[in-house]
Amino acid sequence: MNRLVDLDVVSGAMRGAEGLEGAPPAELPPAEVVIVGCFEGEEPAAEGLPEELARAAARCAARPGFEGREKQRADGSLDDGPITALSVHGLGARDALDGRSLAAWLERILEGLRIDGIGRVLWVLPDAVATRGAAAAERICRRLTLGAYRFDRYKGESARAPVRLGWMGLVPPAGEESTYREALATVAPVAEGVTFTRDLANTPANVADPAWMEQQARTLATELGMEITVLDRPQLEERGMGGLLAVGQGSAVPPRLVRLTWGTEGPTVALVGKGVTFDTGGISIKPAARLDEMKYDKTGACTVLGVARSVVRLGLPIRLRAYVALAENMPDGAAYRPGDIIRCYNGKSVEIMNTDAEGRLILADALALAVEDGCDALVELSTLTGACVVALGHHGAGLFTPDDELARDLLAAAEEAGERLWRLPLWDEFVEEMQGTHADLKNSGGRWGGASTAAAFLSQFIGEHRRWAHLDIAGPAQIPKEQDGSQGATGYGVSLLVRWLRRIAA
Ligand code: BES
Ligand code: MN
Ligand code: ZN
Repeated sequence: MNRLVDLDVVSGAMRGAEGLEGAPPAELPPAEVVIVGCFEGEEPAAEGLPEELARAAARCAARPGFEGREKQRADGSLDDGPITALSVHGLGARDALDGRSLAAWLERILEGLRIDGIGRVLWVLPDAVATRGAAAAERICRRLTLGAYRFDRYKGESARAPVRLGWMGLVPPAGEESTYREALATVAPVAEGVTFTRDLANTPANVADPAWMEQQARTLATELGMEITVLDRPQLEERGMGGLLAVGQGSAVPPRLVRLTWGTEGPTVALVGKGVTFDTGGISIKPAARLDEMKYDKTGACTVLGVARSVVRLGLPIRLRAYVALAENMPDGAAYRPGDIIRCYNGKSVEIMNTDAEGRLILADALALAVEDGCDALVELSTLTGACVVALGHHGAGLFTPDDELARDLLAAAEEAGERLWRLPLWDEFVEEMQGTHADLKNSGGRWGGASTAAAFLSQFIGEHRRWAHLDIAGPAQIPKEQDGSQGATGYGVSLLVRWLRRIAA
């Protein structure tokens, strides 16, 4: 488990009734660098800093060429006191700063700190709409506490980039101290869930096979005091879970369905995750390009486990049921084929058109079980379709649900969490396109509307339950190299779902 950066709100020491405004830098907690923002055409936003530091920031910002534009920075050094360096970073135009550009600003600075191997940092947050209020405070604190994340456990000591980030002090905008202090209480449990999800999802398929994923779930259950049941292959056969069995039958490691339950009060919420530990496409094999990225095809499952971790750590008053469907999709003499007709747990038969449309098959069984167990609301996450990545890129997930109220709540939670979610349609026509020729359904429709036909297929395993949603996280689950320096699993969805569950619990 990667460590989180320790966060403190330090403004109380420098501001307030008996505050130390104007105190010498010696009164500040020791940090290697203090970060100050500066809007275009304004003085650096150094409010809350002792005079001497504020003056140093102003001197930096007065340097020729520095205008406070985005990506501009001006560094200075301080002579005495516990802080030796100061760096002023351009925030761009005040009007243009929103949660997203602020996040990009933080991320850019963090990357620099990681490269330089800085250990202790003091941040002075600018006073702006994007830094005020509980949701903003949580987003900012979460981002900072996750700032030291690197998936480098397979790298040699010398090849590891110098990330030293261990402690950060935050000077919130005036009057926001208590909001930030409160945010700190929830930030660590959520960030732990995000890190857990990223570590699992980044783990390669030669390690993270269905058996390994089950073991991770077992360890988590023991650690958190969750109840766990695992359906292994004979039990899947006994229950007639033909989707999981078909997808997993070409692999040397058999499929399984893991269920974790926790909580004795509040609404019952089911979370379902796609855990295809590697997706070759099976007999309908995928092209070689970027096939390595299919180790991320288990991310829905990893996200569900990460959310479970956060929920238990926060002690939310809900009854949580987490379902994780695990299989590896391989081409093999024993693999399932196009043309095969299988039967899923709810009794529906499915004609296989494409063995690469495997996620929906394992989810069919998991969803039918979750609905049979009963719940007030059900949310399923999966890296389900390339079509959803074509539509939304890696910027956000697709939301599919027949329930407008649930859509509204999830979209609001996404907004608060700073994770993009976009509703896409679940029209009846898509269900019609998934009708089979020789079976009730087929697992792949025509060329168009691939994200919606996949969701329509899933809807056939929900029965009469209306309060359900499918999140296609194929895009935001991972950032490919060309888009960002920080490549790999993002942990998308953990913060969003925890936000939503906190709403439900309230
Ligand atoms: N795991 C893939 C979806 C995917 C593609 C995720 C690219 C991330 C990046 C899924 O199992 C899949 O192969 N879907 C097919 C469905 C098609 C065969 C109907 C797809 O999207 O092409
Ligand atoms: Mn596939
Ligand atoms: Zn897949």
